[in-house]
Amino acid sequence: MLPSTAQLRQTGGRELKRIVFDEETIAERVRELGREITDAYPDGDLLVLGLLKGSFIFLSDLVRRIERPLQVDFLVASSYGEGTVSSGNVRLVYDPETELEGKHILLVEDIIDTGKTLNKLVGLLRERRPRSLEICALLHKHVAKHLELEAKFLGFDAPTLFLVGYGLDHAENFRHLPYIASLT
Ligand code: PRP
Repeated sequence: MLPSTAQLRQTGGRELKRIVFDEETIAERVRELGREITDAYPDGDLLVLGLLKGSFIFLSDLVRRIERPLQVDFLVASSYGEGTVSSGNVRLVYDPETELEGKHILLVEDIIDTGKTLNKLVGLLRERRPRSLEICALLHKHVAKHLELEAKFLGFDAPTLFLVGYGLDHAENFRHLPYIASLT
């Protein structure tokens, strides 16, 4: 299908290969994830930690679907830089200020690709002695050789394409698209 004029305005005229997950599909799955998380934490008292920047849209939609008391904080790590291949050199750029010890932590990630980012973060978070630690990922490419902790809550299995939109970027572009599209 040809891109609409509105889509081309949003991408600065650059055509994406195809839309992989459209807005409605994402919204429905996020609603379901909210219900799963609500059921999994009957007492609430949850600290939702969003991994920036990629999770910012997913996290904001997700927390509005969790019907439990919770707090939100963020982590900033970076691995890709401006390339399309994960460098594996994961840097923690911002550390949450909230006390993590004794908390139920739900780490929210946009996509699990090589798993290097999560493996590094899971190690760092476990050192803070949370009461529990689980992962909620919107997308999972299932290419990681080893994961310290599998995502307990998962949106979609993702194709091994370079995906953009709904928070995911290429060289910082396309994060604002309301759908997820492939660039390759
Ligand atoms: C991307 C993405 C994930 C991570 C996944 O983040 O948002 O956090 O890479 O890759 P991995 O499983 O191979 O480690 P990026 O470093 O590009 O930063 P961003 O979230 O600011 O886009």
